[in-house]
This record gives sequence, structure tokens and C-alpha cells, in this order.
Amino acid sequence: MNAVTPASFPALPAPIGLLAELTHRCPLRCPYCSNPLELDRRSAELDTATWQRVLAEAAGLGVLHVHLSGGEPTARQDIVDITRTCAELGLYSNLITSGVAGALDKLDALYDVGLDHVQLSVQAVEAANAERIGGLKNAQPQKFAFAERVTALGLPLTLNAVIHRGNIAEVPALIDLAVRLGAKRLEVAHTQYYGWAYVNRAALMPAKADVDRSIRTVEEARERLKGQLVIDLVVPDYYAKYPKACAGGWGRRLMNVTPTGKVLPCHAAETIPGLAFWHVQDHALAEIWADSPAFRAYRGTDWMQEPCRSCDRREKDWGGCRCQALALAGDAAATDPACSLSPLHGKVQALAIAESALETAPDYQYRTIGGAPRAAVPEGAPV
Ligand code: SF4
Ligand code: FES
Repeated sequence: MNAVTPASFPALPAPIGLLAELTHRCPLRCPYCSNPLELDRRSAELDTATWQRVLAEAAGLGVLHVHLSGGEPTARQDIVDITRTCAELGLYSNLITSGVAGALDKLDALYDVGLDHVQLSVQAVEAANAERIGGLKNAQPQKFAFAERVTALGLPLTLNAVIHRGNIAEVPALIDLAVRLGAKRLEVAHTQYYGWAYVNRAALMPAKADVDRSIRTVEEARERLKGQLVIDLVVPDYYAKYPKACAGGWGRRLMNVTPTGKVLPCHAAETIPGLAFWHVQDHALAEIWADSPAFRAYRGTDWMQEPCRSCDRREKDWGGCRCQALALAGDAAATDPACSLSPLHGKVQALAIAESALETAPDYQYRTIGGAPRAAVPEGAPV
């Protein structure tokens, strides 16, 4: 494995993955989107040559996987050129797409230049529900046609379904859909409450009993579909016992480049006040990985407070999620309140139970560029 050598982390391993947020433009308007509330405009996006330089630097640094993401990455006119560059550099490319609005027209060209993998989002199985959640009419047949072409080309297909109150009853049908569409993998990903999802939390929070049922459904299907379909399950933080190792641990495995070239340790890092993010226009990626103040802020374990500091799981989950700690505890260096050892854990669970029990869920605040959400849950509000 390549290694970079900043002064204070002599054995710092290279990142494994690069999340390339090519654009925030997207034909869908999902209320659970983890993109920031202030979305970048097209006029501020990096140009093709800069992305290609960033990819070359990533390969030089030791990155193996590039996730071509957004927004909707196929909204970029140069998506084929960017994907070709990944292939030329030996980077495994994963297209994270909604599969609508012209994505299908570009798919064969992407395959021809060496695209390795497709991750297609589905909002639900039942078309009217899917299109209500995604905020785009006629999306469902386009997605199915896209999936059909992916498998016809022999490209591996993963379906990604973000689960919440509005579609949790459809988990069994989503599993059947993945089989029907020929997917090799299905991600049953309970909503993570960042960005637009945080604002829409009360509309999205599922009941604990429904969450438990969805987990049992996945466990049963994993047995039944062994060898045919792999099912990844992301459990909902607010009902968890221990938190996830967010982004694989801060500054350990991933780099996230925004449409304008800011480099983040995770997709929501900009919500943490006081962090300085370096840009690809000003610094090489290796320099950012090693020395950017934002990457160094929560790398390792030195920054931890109790109970993380003396916990034997601290190098398993790295204290959970810094952005969630900020949002719920008001301190990015606190133990993630998703952890049952956090003093705030009980309050977080109570909040989830109260929101999920609302008789009528609030209307969605759909993701829009330039649209100001009425922040039902202001970011940075401690529980
Ligand atoms: Fe992880 Fe910290 Fe909880 Fe221990 S106390 S399980 S390190 S979040
Ligand atoms: Fe930022 Fe988890 S999303 S650390």
C-alpha cells in the first residue's frame, strides 16, 4: 500500500476511495439527500481538465476506487471523458446515478470507455410512491429501462434504496425488485440524517417496530438469496446500539471532492464550523490528505473525549460520526449520540420515537438548488 508521510502521522495509509461529487445538479429532488443545503451551481463547477488532474493525483496517492457521484453525475457533459480517465489510470469507477433524464443515452459510451460498476438509486417499488419521494414524474420506467441496459451490457449493478417512513413497508418488494432487475447487490440503507435529510427528519423517521421488521426481512432474504444477491444493510443511527465508523474513520480511508473542488473528509464536513478545507486548485491531493487542517482535526484518537477516549471500541468505530455529534450534541468532538454509551443517547432515541409517532408526517421539503428550506430541524441544534 502507498503511504504518505506527514510529520505527525508517520505511517498514514493512503486513502482507498475518492468520492467525486461532479455536480450538485440532479433531476430528482429527494428529501433524504445528504448533499448540503447550499448546493453548488453549475457555473462554479470544476472543469474537465481539473477533474482529470485530480484523478491522476488520486491514482498516484494510492486510491483504488472512484465513486462518480453528485447530484447526478451524468448531468455533466464530460462524464464519458472523466470515466475514460479513470480507466486509463487503472481506477475502479463506480457510477452513482438516478438513471433518469438522459443517463441511459450515455450508458453505452460509458461502458465503451471502461466504466466498471453502476449503483442505481430506487426510491420505492410502487411507481406513484417512488415518484412522489423523488419529486419527478415518469422516473420509474426510466430507471427500469436503465437497469435493464446495465445488465444487458454485463455491467455489475447495485440498487441503492434509502429507507424511511415513506417506503419502509416496501422493503420486501425492494428485495424482489433487485432480483427481478438482475442486480448483484442491494443496499437497504436506512436514512442518515445529514443535509436535506436532517431538515426532513420528522417526515422521514420510521417507527422502531418497522425498523426491526425491515432488519428481520433482510436477514431472512440474505439466507434465501445466498449466491444470488448480496444485501447490505445500513441500520438507522438513532435506534442503534453503537455508531458506524463514519467514512471508515475521519481521514483514514476516503476523500470527498465537492463540485467546486473543496476536499472534505466526509460529505457533511462543511457543517462543522471552524474547519479549514483546502481546494484542489491550491494544493495537490497528497498534500491535502496529509496536511489539510480539516483532515487532521479528527484523525486518529487524540482528539477524543470520554467515554470514547478509554473505550475499547475506539479504533473500531472511531467515535462514530463527527457531523452527527455536532448536530445532536453541539460539539463535533463529542461521542456520537448514536452510541449507547453517550450521555445523550436516551434523548436521541426518545426524539426518534416521538418523531416517528407523529400521526401525520410533515410535508417533504424537496432538495432544490437555491431553494431555502424552512428548517424544521435547524442544523447544529443539540438534542
Ligand atoms: Fe465508539 Fe465512543 Fe461509543 Fe466507544 S464510546 S462505542 S468509541 S462511539
Ligand atoms: Fe461527517 Fe460522519 S458525515 S463524520
